[in-house]
Amino acid sequence: MRVLVTRRWPAEVERALQERFEVVLNETDQPLGAAELARAMGEFDVLCPTVSDKIDAAVIGGGDRVRLIANYGVGFDHIDLAAAKAKGVAISNTPGVLTDATADIALTLLLMAARRAGEGERELRAGNWSGWRPTHLVGSALKGKVLGLVGMGRIAVATARRAKHGFGMRIAYYARRPCDPAIAQELGAEFHPELPSLLAAADFVSLHVPGGAETANLIDAAALAAMKPGGYLINTARGGIVDHEALADALRTGHLAGAALDVYPHEPQVPEALVRLENVVLLPHLGSANAETRIAMGMKALANVEAFANGELLPDRIV
Ligand code: DGY
Repeated sequence: MRVLVTRRWPAEVERALQERFEVVLNETDQPLGAAELARAMGEFDVLCPTVSDKIDAAVIGGGDRVRLIANYGVGFDHIDLAAAKAKGVAISNTPGVLTDATADIALTLLLMAARRAGEGERELRAGNWSGWRPTHLVGSALKGKVLGLVGMGRIAVATARRAKHGFGMRIAYYARRPCDPAIAQELGAEFHPELPSLLAAADFVSLHVPGGAETANLIDAAALAAMKPGGYLINTARGGIVDHEALADALRTGHLAGAALDVYPHEPQVPEALVRLENVVLLPHLGSANAETRIAMGMKALANVEAFANGELLPDRIV
């Protein structure tokens, strides 16, 4: 079976794939263009893209040989599921194994924003630190503050656990329906069936909904205006969920005290309006970037390819 891996993966996963299949690796690790991806649809049995490859209807229509797209990553808003389904191409992802790593990054961002760590680091490296003083780069405490989660899936729950048990934060969430009662009880989590009420109640808002058309610009100017004055926005989910021009305005006027982002609508571009602001932390999509997690993601993708090769049910089939 011929398998195309579109970017470099951890070495142990690449080796494991090569032991089992005829694998073509992307030695340069440069993103493949739409034409190359489309051509691959006719030359391989399995395509293994990552979250940064756009697998749209034109790519999927590029050839008839690929029967499985085994995505390296949990998010799949970069893949046209309807086009894949219409062509009978199966799609799998890598859920579960990046929950802790992503929750760790959400807390990293939350702490960096609250304690103005990015501003402090930039000031020190620029040689502008004039010494300790009681009013220098004063941020916000976390204890007793409300963390408002938008979405209450695995990563949101792992983030809430860290915030509550590690930092004494209070937990509130907005979701379509209340979460598992045992989790709600453990976290003392307050359910908000409407987004504006969650936004008004939270000191820190953390986004945990999938990307895609349904959540595009969910956090727009009106949503930002509904947030508490002096609040913070954290995004580890997908960039398209936030209207970044409106966010830059809210940060510039001081309505929000800070924001911290790991994801952007058109990566690797970062909205210029945000880069110019001091009160926003900007990370380059590092949510799952620890060695253990990246290996586990690859092994999960491999398990799906193996199941496909053996004619078995895919463990993480999306369509
Ligand atoms: C994913 O898997 O969707 C993440 O965004 C990668 O870190």
